[in-house]
Amino acid sequence: MDVLQKCGGRKVVLAPMAGITDGSYCGKYRNLFGIVTLGGLNLDSATLSASKEIVKRGRKEFLYNLNEFEDIIKREVKRARESNALVSVNIRFKDFEEAKRRIEILKKHCDIIELNCHCRQEEIVKLGIGQELLKRENFETLRDFLKGIWELEIEKPIFLKVRANVVPVDEFIDNLNKVRRYFHGIHLDCFNPGRDYPDIEYIQEVRRSFKDKIIVGNNSINSIKNAEKMLKYSDLISVARCVLRGNVRWIYEFNRKLDNKGNNL
Ligand SMILES: Cc1cc2nc3c(=O)[nH]c(=O)nc-3n(C[C@H](O)[C@H](O)[C@H](O)COP(=O)(O)O)c2cc1C
Repeated sequence: MDVLQKCGGRKVVLAPMAGITDGSYCGKYRNLFGIVTLGGLNLDSATLSASKEIVKRGRKEFLYNLNEFEDIIKREVKRARESNALVSVNIRFKDFEEAKRRIEILKKHCDIIELNCHCRQEEIVKLGIGQELLKRENFETLRDFLKGIWELEIEKPIFLKVRANVVPVDEFIDNLNKVRRYFHGIHLDCFNPGRDYPDIEYIQEVRRSFKDKIIVGNNSINSIKNAEKMLKYSDLISVARCVLRGNVRWIYEFNRKLDNKGNNL
């Protein structure tokens, strides 16, 4: 569990927010997070075009020239390192062959590579990626992506960023079980359709089946109380919207309660 050790006892992760969590955003939270996540970043022209469409309807996305990818990554990771946290990067692509050389670039600069199996924006879903990768009919694509990344021997942990309740938990576990050798961590948004609190039962089941993986629990965490609740079933927790709202004081307080191994003082 090298990743957990390297988090230095900090249990809160900055979750990815497209168009928002760039290097500067990550870097401004010094000594607060165990991991900061850049992205979601597009690694091929199909996802970049999808992002351009998403921007046209008013959502934020990261848009850049794919030919300048290496310079951009170097710059953004350098800025993110001001956080003193591990730097993860959340990635999307449709064409692995096109994405491959950019994953090779990421492996040189980032600490964790996180495959986005989470996005539900229509333009991404139409490509059969994002949360679609969790569906049984797209299992082969997920497997090929993960196997392809694995074969690059990137020597960095691979996380999957996933959304609960896209498929029933049994199907989710069954699918991930078949590819478990290709990844190290599950970053699980415990999305609970129609409810504004996380689906804890879903993560409980996932924890039970993936005891050897690093689990990052996510969804609606905005206080020490609900962080502790999620940490019963996860190694780390992550936050997105509460950071956007500037609600981070509780994270400093939470860190003060933990020693450098993440145990309660
Ligand atoms: C504006 C915004 C952009 C997001 N972009 C991404 C993304 O690019 N990739 C991803 O995996 N998740 C993305 N997410 C999902 C978050 O990482 C997180 O899973 C979700 O917001 C639930 O966590 P929260 O309740 O702490 O906000 C985004 C969320 C928001 C609010």
